[in-house]
Amino acid sequence: MAKVRVEFQNIALAFGKTQVLRDIDLAIEPGEFFALLGPSGSGKSTLAHVVEERLYQMGCRTFVFDGDNVRHGLCSDLGFSAEDRGENIRRIGEMVKLFTEAGIIAMTAFISPYIKDRDWVRSLAGKDKFIEIYCDSSLAVCESRDTKGLYVKARKGEIAEFTGISSPYEPPVNPELHLKTDETSLEECVEIVIKYLSDRKFIANNSQ
Ligand code: ADX
Repeated sequence: MAKVRVEFQNIALAFGKTQVLRDIDLAIEPGEFFALLGPSGSGKSTLAHVVEERLYQMGCRTFVFDGDNVRHGLCSDLGFSAEDRGENIRRIGEMVKLFTEAGIIAMTAFISPYIKDRDWVRSLAGKDKFIEIYCDSSLAVCESRDTKGLYVKARKGEIAEFTGISSPYEPPVNPELHLKTDETSLEECVEIVIKYLSDRKFIANNSQ
């Protein structure tokens, strides 16, 4: 499990006007436990719940955004023209920025076929905060998988502007990671991503 270190400094807790806890520093890492000791009513349980809430808000959580949860809701008014795809990615970028500001590691899985849209999100995210992972699979392999049966429909002309068939895909020029997903197993891809995040110190340790 990835190791995450969370530090709290100068925690204080008051009941009414009486301060019962102050100047407490905590460093918490998964795999360790910490005990809050004190007499009844000293605020242990209350503090534990505050800590729990902070952990929730401070980077111990991830969220995956993909077409299933975004295109059916936030972007349900959009189609697949270049303009609509650009707006799709713009909204996702803005939304994810808010999530990352809340300390959540956000993973997005979208076709995002245009370089300019991806570059725009990169600049929105800020330096070193955007990791582009190119999942590179040949059209033939994608088409042979055809998990949703959409390639068959696109070939028959039943779906317009279908990426790779009747709509372009601009490959990333300089992605942080380039995964040949038609030659590399899922487990290996996972390890490559985890190692990258560990090497870049996005996560503290990949061996825990
Ligand atoms: S993006 O180009 O705007 O980034 P997005 O990733 O949100 O696309 O949505 C892609 C998903 O929508 C595909 O996985 C597929 O299930 C579905 N889809 C429906 N129509 C199209 C189309 N014309 N081109 C590509 N994907 C389509």
